[in-house]
Amino acid sequence: MAIKKVGVIGCGLMGSGIAQVSAQAGYDVTVREVTKEFFDRGFKRIEGSLAKFVEKGKMQESDRDAALGRIKGTISLADLKDCDIVIEAIIENMDEKTKIYKELDGVCGPHTIFASNTSSLPIGDMSAVTKRRDKFCGMHFFNPVPLMKLVEIVRAIDTSEETYQAAKTYAESVGKTVVTAKDTPGFVVNVLLVPYLLDAVRLLERGVASKEDIDQGMVLGCGHPMGPLTLLDYVGLDTTYYIAEIMFQEFKDSHYAAPPLLRRLVEAGYHGRKAGRGIYTYEQKA
Ligand code: 3HC
Repeated sequence: MAIKKVGVIGCGLMGSGIAQVSAQAGYDVTVREVTKEFFDRGFKRIEGSLAKFVEKGKMQESDRDAALGRIKGTISLADLKDCDIVIEAIIENMDEKTKIYKELDGVCGPHTIFASNTSSLPIGDMSAVTKRRDKFCGMHFFNPVPLMKLVEIVRAIDTSEETYQAAKTYAESVGKTVVTAKDTPGFVVNVLLVPYLLDAVRLLERGVASKEDIDQGMVLGCGHPMGPLTLLDYVGLDTTYYIAEIMFQEFKDSHYAAPPLLRRLVEAGYHGRKAGRGIYTYEQKA
């Protein structure tokens, strides 16, 4: 099951990163977004990331141009029909995802693998709406995708060995290391990371320390590249909140429940770096 052509659904932070690393690795990539404007925004992010690599001398200009030339945008799911793998990276909403998968199942040939970049929703629930449960897995990338070396591959009950191996080979070909997880909420990384981020908000809420000191504590005390509150802004308060809700619904364990402060900030629209404000305030780029 050789993968040559990659489809990506969604050109947000994660989708654009997945499209970028695939194109860098030599794959032809078709990215589907709901509007041309959303695709253009994602494509601009890819250009910005590749420009950083060129600036640092980590990439030749000709390789950048070739990678950009391999990425095509579309607003039609039908344009993904020839893809060998389609990686979906849309909003963490099961209804939205199953709607896409039902339609895509009728568009793609029987050999096409479907992979969801979900961070916490059950893969089995998504594959159940298709006629290709064996050709379905989770492929969870990390933000920023061009830099983070990990992909979690999630094997649902019906994921075949052949699908798993093809997804693993593809992930390794785009420069990632794979860890394999069962289909349970949060897989390996988020089940550890999200309660940690929630606990950092609880510390702030209880006034135990300032946000800067909470972050410094983990950067200087534990050697993390970012403190938890900076990371929360980076991942997105909304995204973290949704993941926490999904894990709480599944495990019914208060450890996964979002603290009130997080909910208040999300409701106020303070979603983190992308919104210009989260736990910290950021200068908005023009
Ligand atoms: N593309 C290309 N290069 C990039 C880039 C991008 N998107 N983002 C940053 N860079 C480059 C910078 O240009 C810089 O290059 P240099 O070292 O050669 O100068 C380098 O990366 C470091 O960037 P910065 O100086 O801006 O900032 P940092 O030193 O803090 O590094 C970081 C940024 C790599 C993001 C680092 O802080 C880090 O590893 N943070 C933790 C990120 C993390 O934990 N991600 C996982 C989140 S969880 C997740 O995604 C799962 C989801 O389901 C929630």
